[in-house]
Amino acid sequence: MRVLVTGGAGFIGSNLVDRLVRDGHEVTVLDDLSSGGNRNPEARLHVMDVRDPAIGPVIEGLRPEVVCHLAAQISVRRSVADPALDARLNVEGTVNVLEAARRAGARKVVYASSVAVYGRPRVIPVPADAATDPRSPYAASKLSGEIYLSAYLGLHGLEYTTLVLSNVYGPRQSPEGEAGVVSIFTDALLSGRRTVVYGDGSQTRDYVFVDDVVDGFARACGPEGNGRRFNLGTGVQTTDRRLHTLVAAAAGAPDEPAFEPPRLGDLPAMAVDPAPAFEGLGWRPAHDLAAGLKATVAWATSA
Ligand SMILES: NC(=O)c1ccc[n+]([C@@H]2O[C@H](COP(=O)([O-])OP(=O)(O)OC[C@H]3O[C@@H](n4cnc5c(N)ncnc54)[C@H](O)[C@@H]3O)[C@@H](O)[C@H]2O)c1
Repeated sequence: MRVLVTGGAGFIGSNLVDRLVRDGHEVTVLDDLSSGGNRNPEARLHVMDVRDPAIGPVIEGLRPEVVCHLAAQISVRRSVADPALDARLNVEGTVNVLEAARRAGARKVVYASSVAVYGRPRVIPVPADAATDPRSPYAASKLSGEIYLSAYLGLHGLEYTTLVLSNVYGPRQSPEGEAGVVSIFTDALLSGRRTVVYGDGSQTRDYVFVDDVVDGFARACGPEGNGRRFNLGTGVQTTDRRLHTLVAAAAGAPDEPAFEPPRLGDLPAMAVDPAPAFEGLGWRPAHDLAAGLKATVAWATSA
């Protein structure tokens, strides 16, 4: 299958590219390399901004059957500081990709959305059909991408599957990003630097290993799940304090984080219900947190 991966040089996208190449697909990456820098020599690379109208003729020339759209600005804080830039990258960029995909005759778009679209969840784990309640420009721009997908299915018959990702971790995640607490802890603990837990350590998140997320994308490239959205998470809540203990154990480092006051706006708890993806995509997370952390630390040690 010919697959185009936008954001294919980034953390999740590059792991997806490796998987699709291994599966024998003809993979092309479209990425402006603004935050990602990973290359797979078997995949063609177009260094372009998804906002650039010139991606239209390029994608038409490639004639991808499926477009996995992961290119985005991913920082909530940056979206609050500059909402117009966030909208240009994540809304205008997505519309540009969708328009190019349908003109190129693509069958399907697989879209990376975020649990941020749920806002402050009333029920945990959050069902995939829970009401959305975006509380940041980033959440609003990600949700807007979902709405455009639905419009393109209705208007042009362009198939789609939306994958709502919880906290993804694993090899190649940057410790610079605000979302990558696993990579931040790993990087600091391996180099003997201080680690910080905000609040009393009881805040929870749903950590899903990148290989599992990539497996969800690979499955969604098929005919399954057209017109649907699935949560890709584990449904399991892990506290910040427990996560620190597990990363410290995997890194062979002392489990002694500093505690600082909670950060304004941080959600106290989050986990998503992945059950519909079991039935809709035949997907299941295969890595428990300890195994995923072991692989992440092994990668960070060798990188
Ligand atoms: N990492 C997570 O936990 C998580 C959670 C929920 C959703 N997501 C979504 O998954 C996707 C991938 O996230 P990631 O963690 O791999 O981030 P990342 O920053 O590592 O990857 C994003 C990639 O997109 C590229 N990019 C950014 N702006 C671009 C533009 N205008 N044109 C072309 N390329 C551009 C970057 O260079 C980078 O390679 C994003 O859409 C993000 O919103 C990630």
